[in-house]
Amino acid sequence: MKQLKHLKGDLRVPGDKSISHRALIFSVLTRGRSTVAGLSPAYDCASSIACLQALGLEIEPAGQADSVSIMSNGVTEMKAPATHLDAGNSGTTIRLMAGVASGLQFQTTFDGDQSLRRRPMSRVLDPLGAMGAQIEYLGKAGCAPFSIAGGTLRGIAYPVPVASAQVQTAILLAGLQADGETVVTVPGVVRDHTLRLFQYLSIPHRVDNPGSIAVKRLSEPIEPYQIDVPADISSAAFFMVAAALLPGSSVRLSDVGVNPGRNLVIEVLQRMGAALTIENERIVSGEPVADIAVRYESRLAGATIGGDEIAAGIDEIPILALAGALGSGIFTISGAAELRVKESDRLKAIVSNLSAAGAHITELPDGFEIEGTSSLAGGSIWETFGDHRLAMTGLIANLISNAPVEVDDRDCVRISYPTFEADLDRLLNH
Ligand code: S3P
Repeated sequence: MKQLKHLKGDLRVPGDKSISHRALIFSVLTRGRSTVAGLSPAYDCASSIACLQALGLEIEPAGQADSVSIMSNGVTEMKAPATHLDAGNSGTTIRLMAGVASGLQFQTTFDGDQSLRRRPMSRVLDPLGAMGAQIEYLGKAGCAPFSIAGGTLRGIAYPVPVASAQVQTAILLAGLQADGETVVTVPGVVRDHTLRLFQYLSIPHRVDNPGSIAVKRLSEPIEPYQIDVPADISSAAFFMVAAALLPGSSVRLSDVGVNPGRNLVIEVLQRMGAALTIENERIVSGEPVADIAVRYESRLAGATIGGDEIAAGIDEIPILALAGALGSGIFTISGAAELRVKESDRLKAIVSNLSAAGAHITELPDGFEIEGTSSLAGGSIWETFGDHRLAMTGLIANLISNAPVEVDDRDCVRISYPTFEADLDRLLNH
C-alpha cells in the first residue's frame, strides 16, 4: 500500500478556456488592435487562434507570457481561407466559429479530430441554417466535417433545446451579422461569459429575462479591447477536490473565475462538508473573480446533484465523482446525459474507470450513483479515451488510491491544461 501524499501551497492555474475562446473570437467584431492578457495556453485555444489567423486576423504574442495582441480589420474584411479550418479537439472553437462563418460572404469548411467528428453539430447548424447560412455535411450528417456558405442572414427567435452556452453564443455571433432581431433563449443557468462580454465591450443587446438575449446587426465595428482572463475554475477544480480528499492538504487557488454559471463544484464541495472558502471577491473585465482556499478537514458526505444545476458544473462532474467515491454516503448525478457527447462519453468512462479502481458505482442513463467507500483500492488502468478531463481526473485518482492508478494517456491534458502535472508536482513537493 502506498503512502498517501498531500497538497500544500498557492497556485494560479492558467487562464480560463471558455473566456479565452470568446476574447479571441469576439475580435472579429472589432476594427483595430486588441489585447488579451492571461490567455489560456490550452491547445483548444490554439485551435481558435489558428482558425482566426486563417481568416486573416493577425494574432501575435504581446509583451508578457500568455498575452496576445490581435489585429482585426472587421468582419466585412475577413478573407476566404485557403484550406479548411481545423478546430482540433475543440467543440467551442468549431461551434462559435460556425456562428461567425455564417455571416461571411464566402464558403468556409470546418473539420476536427476523431473525437470532434463524433460530436453533434446540428444543434448549432440547424438554427444557423434557419437564419440563411447554407450548410453542407461532408461526412456523416449532423457532424464535422461540414461547410458553411455564409451570406445574408435573417434573425430568428430560437429556444435552444439543450442548456448550452456554446449554442447560445454561436447563434448570437450570427445574429450580430443578421437582418432583424435574433432572440436566443436557453433553459436553466449556463455560463454567461458571452452576456458579460456584451456588457463589458458595449455590444448592443437586450436581456428579456434571465436566459433570453436579443441582438441586432452591429451597425459598426466595436472598439478594440483589453481583456484580462481569470484563472480557469475547471482547472482549479482538480486541486480543490484533491485538497478536500487528502489529509494534511491546504491550498490557495488565486484569481479563479467564479461565474455563477460555473460554480457548481464550489457549491457541491461545500454541501459535502469541505473546508472551502471564497476570499477577495472582485470583478475583472466584467467577470467575478476570487481566491479559493481549500483544506482537508474530514471525510466528505454524499450529495445528490441533478436537474437544472448540472449545466453549472458540466465540465467538473468527472472530478466531482472522485469526491463522491470517497464520501461517507450516496453520491448521485442525474440529468447529465450531455456528458455522453463531450470529448468522450464521460458517463461511461467515469463508471468503468472508477469501478476498475474499486469504487461502488452504477451507471444511469443520465448519470451515475456511487456508494462512497473510505478508501479506493486502485491497482488499475485508467482509460482516458483521449479526453483531457478524464486524464486529469485519473491523475488525481492515482493520488487518492492505495495502489497506483495508471493513466493510459497523459499527453491529452494539453487540450486544456498543458502544465497540469508540473503544477500538481509543485503542490505535492512543497
Ligand atoms: C463551453 C460550454 C460548455 C462546456 C465547454 C465550454 C463554452 O459546453 O462543456 O467545455 O465555452 O461555452 P456546452 O455549452 O455545449 O454545454
